[in-house]
Amino acid sequence: MFTAKDFIPTNYSKTIEQGNFQWTAPSNIALVKYWGKKDNQIPANPSVSFTLNNCKTITKLAFAKKEISTVLNETGEKFSFDLLFEGKPKEDFKPKIQKFLERIEIYLPFLKDYHFTIDTENTFPHSSGIASSASGMAALAMNLMRLEKELNPNMTENYFYQKASMLARLGSGSACRSIKGEVVVWGNHNNISGSSELFGVEFPNIIHDVFKNFQDTILLVDKGEKQVSSTVGHDLMHNHPYAERRFAQAHENLDKLITIFENGDLEEFIKIVESEALTLHSMMMTSMPYFILMKPNTLEIINAIWKFRNATKIPVCFTLDAGANVHVLYPNKNKEIVLQFIQSELVGYCQNGQYICDEIGTGAVEN
Ligand code: DP6
Repeated sequence: MFTAKDFIPTNYSKTIEQGNFQWTAPSNIALVKYWGKKDNQIPANPSVSFTLNNCKTITKLAFAKKEISTVLNETGEKFSFDLLFEGKPKEDFKPKIQKFLERIEIYLPFLKDYHFTIDTENTFPHSSGIASSASGMAALAMNLMRLEKELNPNMTENYFYQKASMLARLGSGSACRSIKGEVVVWGNHNNISGSSELFGVEFPNIIHDVFKNFQDTILLVDKGEKQVSSTVGHDLMHNHPYAERRFAQAHENLDKLITIFENGDLEEFIKIVESEALTLHSMMMTSMPYFILMKPNTLEIINAIWKFRNATKIPVCFTLDAGANVHVLYPNKNKEIVLQFIQSELVGYCQNGQYICDEIGTGAVEN
């Protein structure tokens, strides 16, 4: 069994003065949702997600070793970094990165020895309501691990990816599922060997062909700022009246998905996935304070999907993140007819008619 201590390095065999790397990491969409956490970004229940292919963050990390005498920067902080978004300085992203570096310093003791320039951009429209924290934290974690690999070239590939996922988790929980693999599990589950609360692992069992190139069309219902952040929402699961039952249900649903992934039973898949989405939002509606992130058009879309599915028997379903946008999930072989349905009946519910076509992808890549 791994513990977090296993990721604290001892001595590095190599040194490097300066250089740069670039990694691209995708977003992911949870089927069984992570909602509620313990200290140190440990999830209250296991979750599983499809890795996406088109919604990505591209992050370039430039690094240069500092003079020993400038261990503290001009503002007295230990870490020295500039943050650019689409090539321009972005001050409001800095506190989140600062906090991330503080959390991971123990695992990457070289952090304070360098000045970093982090230059990041997303492939999806800015403020589309799509969370960039998963892809963003994953891309940054990959770059930092790439630098650690220069200092310790002997690290195994397994260690490299597991530690990258663990670091990403400390940036944003769901980010640990954006590192490697098409279907990723995070959190301990009795029937998934190798599953861990410290990092995401590739789903190790058989996955039926029906899930190959599975499609996710993201309908952008509301691009505004959320009233309640995920971090606050997670916190409200402490002392939540239904928390314990919900956490147990996530284990049960993941169990059912193990069978469904193997036999390709889409009817059962739909039941789990839609129930998980609505349960997530029920948790929000029953916390104290309570809140609603769905919008009227979210419900219009859900009802239209149900009507279409009833009439056509095409196995299309929805899931939701912590927001109003709707992810429409369906097999690759039904792509044409579902896209026609989206264009004729759902686009009207999207802000400015915007939606993003995505599908299952394989994880982060260096470029
Ligand atoms: C609803 O990973 O964004 O998308 O760990 O506080 O950064 P933090 O939260 P975050 O929560 C995501 C919650 C979710 C469900 C999921 O992705 O599993």
